[in-house]
Amino acid sequence: TGTLAIRGRLLSFDADPAVEGEAPSVRFIEDGIVVIRDGIIVEVGEGPVVARRLEAGIAVIDHRPHLVMPGFIDPHLHLPQTQVIASYGQELMEWLAKYTFPEELRYGDSAVSEEASRFLLDTLAANGTTTAAAYCTSHQVSAEAFFTEADRRGLRMLAGKVMMDRNAPPGLLDTPQSGYDQTKELIETFHGRGRLEVAITPRFAPTSSEAQLDAAKALAAEYPGLPIQTHLSENKAEIAFVAEAFPWSKDYTDVYERYGLVRPRALFGHCIHLSDRERSALADKGASAIFCPTSNLFLGSGLYDLAASRAVGLSTGIATDIGGGTSYSMLTTAAEGYKVLALKGQKLRAFEAFHMLTAGNAAAMGIGDKVGRLEKGYEADLVVLDTHSTAPLRRRMERVQSLSEELFALMILGDERATVATYAMGRKIYDRYHAGHRPLAP
Ligand code: GUN
Ligand code: FE
Repeated sequence: TGTLAIRGRLLSFDADPAVEGEAPSVRFIEDGIVVIRDGIIVEVGEGPVVARRLEAGIAVIDHRPHLVMPGFIDPHLHLPQTQVIASYGQELMEWLAKYTFPEELRYGDSAVSEEASRFLLDTLAANGTTTAAAYCTSHQVSAEAFFTEADRRGLRMLAGKVMMDRNAPPGLLDTPQSGYDQTKELIETFHGRGRLEVAITPRFAPTSSEAQLDAAKALAAEYPGLPIQTHLSENKAEIAFVAEAFPWSKDYTDVYERYGLVRPRALFGHCIHLSDRERSALADKGASAIFCPTSNLFLGSGLYDLAASRAVGLSTGIATDIGGGTSYSMLTTAAEGYKVLALKGQKLRAFEAFHMLTAGNAAAMGIGDKVGRLEKGYEADLVVLDTHSTAPLRRRMERVQSLSEELFALMILGDERATVATYAMGRKIYDRYHAGHRPLAP
């Protein structure tokens, strides 16, 4: 609590491009100040002007010459997959069976879930990520551990207990009833505590029976404002599996539509091999696709088609998908997204990418009025970035001519070493000069 001010090169984006398909509007102040009161941004303006007006006694943290941006938002990752990142040689379905499910079995132990939650949230902070949408495991304790730790740190986090009742080891299976009851209990305990939100989280159609999808449908109907997260159309073998398991379905998306899971705040991870019908159905119902480039490349899943999504007005977020994904860095994630789209003959401009990492991902998650922008009334979750953090970046910066070139180089060459500091509700949760010495998190 109290008032503080942060000075730096302020960078923020409007919620949406003024014109569909156009670049988002950038708000950049070369020397700016963000004033924060009780964790909320109360003023954003020109540094010299705001500084003159600030009451004496208000601390100004001067981060010049670094960039000050809204904290990054990662709309798809898995708490229990830190230790399966870089497991060699399999596509999705085999990767799940061989590496991921055995690892997730460990999370029935609350000590394992607690330690992993601390590690994940420390690592996100070090990467400048202040909000994420997380899959825990099917164990209630994994979700309880994650929510408890996120709340202790005062973070805005969205997470869910995974619902899965078939096609996985017995120790990972819940039942339609227990998945329903446990999700409901989590909602009652954690939803709305601090900045936490519970997401209804059926893992994906292959691991849920129709009875379980019915239970997810009941939860979705009981809690119409709640986020939903699942996976959709990531891999060809997965799609064939769904077609066989749900013989009545027109396509993969139809399964989720049938169970009332396609709606605003529903986040569909991957969405690579969608038909036009499916893309339009997602768009028309206000759901979002989440592009996970490092995961899609690592697992050989395929190349996301951003132009096709934009053509039908399907909003797209971009995420790490740890641990199918290989980097916690949203800068690296954007860089790999750029390369995926380049292979599709599409381009991701720097302003579009940084918009996606902040205001765009916030909008996809339905929290675009709370985080993702440097605006009065927004929560003061910030990342401070050094665009000269490594030798290649410093060398490149000697040639850049504009902000957009500078940001593009930061996105392609930058990583967690660019994070100078991270703030949640105006409280510093990461500082690169403390890293390795003493944790800043409470
Ligand atoms: N589909 C269902 N579960 C998973 C998962 O854990 N990771 C990825 N990448 N895809 C999935
Ligand atoms: Fe995933």
